[in-house]
Amino acid sequence: MLRRVLLAASASPKLRQLIVTAPQTRAIVDSYVAGESADDAVRVTRMLRASGLLVTLDYLGEDTTDEAQAAAVVDEYVELLGKLSADGLTQGGAAEVSVKPTAVGLHLSQGLAAENIARICTAARDAGTTVTLDAEHYDAIEPTIRIVASLRDAHPDLGCVIQAALRRSEADCRSLAGYGSRVRLCKGAYSNEESVAFVAKRDVDLSYARCQKVLMNGSGYPMMATHDPRLIEITGSLAMLAARGPDSFEYQMLYGIRPGEQRRLANTGARMRIYVPYGGDWYGYLVRRLAERPANLAFFLRSLGSRS
Ligand code: FDA
Repeated sequence: MLRRVLLAASASPKLRQLIVTAPQTRAIVDSYVAGESADDAVRVTRMLRASGLLVTLDYLGEDTTDEAQAAAVVDEYVELLGKLSADGLTQGGAAEVSVKPTAVGLHLSQGLAAENIARICTAARDAGTTVTLDAEHYDAIEPTIRIVASLRDAHPDLGCVIQAALRRSEADCRSLAGYGSRVRLCKGAYSNEESVAFVAKRDVDLSYARCQKVLMNGSGYPMMATHDPRLIEITGSLAMLAARGPDSFEYQMLYGIRPGEQRRLANTGARMRIYVPYGGDWYGYLVRRLAERPANLAFFLRSLGSRS
């Protein structure tokens, strides 16, 4: 409930101004975000790679409504991929990129977003790595899946994210669990109507477990994006039952969340990938992180309250 209220309130310009200008915000942003520039992203990638972790980088920003801005986002990804490649960080897909379709023009047109995503995919292929499309608001889900399908021939390793919170997701997993298909499964960080989404946490978790089973028993490449200890354990059991080797799936977590568990899983020989956001447009990302954990939100609100 609190989560839904905060996500809805985050659209308010007043709340945005309060959060963005609060001096306490910086420390929290720094714990979740690698920095503002591509060089910051490369530096953090180098550090994570040195501890045996894989990386996916997200240039922060979403809901672009201007063609030139969408092109600038594409340029940023192309430049980032060049820098990562020059540092040897993309070899074998060790560092890849995650892209929000609305950041590259999905609100303007599906065709423009697909063209822009194809440009990023080409730069990723030249760098020896891959692209995964994030899942955003409900309205963006169907067009995103269509873009992945339309680019499949040219870029078969283009991955996408499925949100277990959505009622449609188990069926989406079934159609995406084919050979070579890269699917990242997360719980879902957006607020949705009950008609299209599970709202109770328990129902979302159960849906996650069902989707997990479909993907792990399929012939694609599942990427299990969660910090939830029970679901992580289920991934391990499903891998054993399906006789999947450690190279045939990944665990994934967000930068700054459960770093000890990230290292523990990597030390077992599992592929463990960290989602690392960078850039100046961190507001939407920060609000989603605060909203999914009441303890973080309470801490943040207390620190705002103690300003005076
Ligand atoms: P849950 O929220 O139940 O948390 C389980 C445990 O993890 C908590 O008890 C706590 O210990 C820890 N934890 C979780 N969140 C925390 C936080 N903010 N701070 C500190 N501890 C925390 N969503 C989406 O809608 N579209 C997308 O494309 C993606 N992409 C994506 C990629 C990757 C790699 C990950 C890991 C996640 C996403 N997400 C996402 C976000 C996802 O939907 C979800 O909101 C978060 O991962 C939190 O859900 P958990 O599965 O971790 O479970």
